[in-house]
Amino acid sequence: MGDTLIPQHIGFIMDGNGRWAKKRLMPRNFGHNQGAAVFKKTINWCRELGVKCATFYAFSTENWKRPPDEVKGIMDLLRRYIKDIRESAKEDIRIIILGDISAFDEDIRVELTDIMETSKDNTGFIVGIALNYGGRAEICRAAKILSERCVSGEISSADITEDMLEQLLYTAEMPPLDLVIRPSGEQRLSNFLIWQAAYAEFVFMDVLWPDFTKKDLEYAINEYAGRSRRFGGI
Ligand code: IPE
Ligand code: IPE
Ligand code: MG
Repeated sequence: MGDTLIPQHIGFIMDGNGRWAKKRLMPRNFGHNQGAAVFKKTINWCRELGVKCATFYAFSTENWKRPPDEVKGIMDLLRRYIKDIRESAKEDIRIIILGDISAFDEDIRVELTDIMETSKDNTGFIVGIALNYGGRAEICRAAKILSERCVSGEISSADITEDMLEQLLYTAEMPPLDLVIRPSGEQRLSNFLIWQAAYAEFVFMDVLWPDFTKKDLEYAINEYAGRSRRFGGI
């Protein structure tokens, strides 16, 4: 496959953990556990297939609506996974956290900030992890920063460009989002990378995230390779 046939940046909406667990008569957090293991494997598959960057939707700004024991289970899982994330950073992987991490407990916040900082010069692969992330919140945050710059006189509102706003998104240092993969049968973005997905391709799949395999990834990339991306042209 030629280079343009391989997406540079894939977004994964890791959905279906709860249904996967339910099918096995297990608590939802059992599904999240399994989903986290697939997250780790998917990073390697992406690298093997020549993808440069992968962003994973792990916890949305709306997921706080879930029962407290499920939210707590996800936070505990995150604590356990931070060690793995740190190990990944040693393999020339840069970790970028997308989202407002100020809502998390201090130990998680400190670790995540540290992982981002210590991995920032790695160039082998970029892993984005969306945590307490919402596309609307991300755009709103960028708008606030721009408006502060206007108020301080640094810029004038008439000079604001799409590029300026884009530079204030969490994805500023990532390649453009080419492909969004959502397993679990749902066909929506659920507030994931809504700005960045403006011209991305979408592949929706019926597989539940904990069952997602390298073959599924290859299928999605193959679909992508067959799409004609016109970006408004002909
Ligand atoms: C996605 O799986 C994981 C998170 C949102 C944290 P779900 O928990 O949404 O699984 P379903 O959609 O209920 O099956
Ligand atoms: C999207 O899944 C969020 C993550 C995968 C982290 P949801 O399960 O929260 O989305 P909805 O509720 O089906 O839209
Ligand atoms: Mg879901």
